Amino acid sequence: MHWIGLSGSLRMGSYNTMLLNESLELLPDGVTMEIAGYSELPLYNGDLDLPATEKRPPAVQAFRDRLALADAFVIISPEYNYSIPGGLKNAIDWASRGEDSPLLRKPVALMGVTPGMWGTVRMQLAFHAVFQFLDMKPVYKPEVLINQAKTKFNEHGKLADEKTKEIIRKQLAALQQLVMKYK
Ligand SMILES: Cc1cc2nc3c(=O)[nH]c(=O)nc-3n(C[C@H](O)[C@H](O)[C@H](O)COP(=O)(O)O)c2cc1C
Repeated sequence: MHWIGLSGSLRMGSYNTMLLNESLELLPDGVTMEIAGYSELPLYNGDLDLPATEKRPPAVQAFRDRLALADAFVIISPEYNYSIPGGLKNAIDWASRGEDSPLLRKPVALMGVTPGMWGTVRMQLAFHAVFQFLDMKPVYKPEVLINQAKTKFNEHGKLADEKTKEIIRKQLAALQQLVMKYK
């Protein structure tokens, strides 16, 4: 079983990217995961997409082809202005169009980290509308909302909170179950 991970943050030192890297060590047996970048994608423009053009931009096609290899997705993202970060939303918009969308009907797990108090709850709620439109199969429980990030990561950028690791393991195991259910 192969998954693709997407981080909602492009900055070096991102807590969410740290968590995505950490989740590679918490995968269930039998699962591989690759982290896909998307910073090279242009802004979504219908004039550059099918059917207005015969070929999507090469970076977009490469991104979609990579996502097509995934049985499921792990998205770990901060909350920007109570919602989904624009860069990540742009990547999802590019991947979402057409019956050949690599996102359509696929299982997905969502997590988020914030230095603040509310653990990305509003970003996660915003994502559920996207999942619904794409008929994706989100893991509903357990939710992974990590607040007060500074207290949970050590100086080497490693997650140092055992309870948090355990809940992530459980969410990833639930994602594996969903993949098996919908195969
Ligand atoms: C444009 C922008 C908007 C933000 N909006 C929110 C927000 O709505 N809620 C929140 O808890 N934190 C917000 N933050 C703070 C982020 O949670 C914080 O910068 C976090 O470290 C970003 O995740 P990262 O460490 O993975 O880059 C915002 C940060 C930025 C740059």
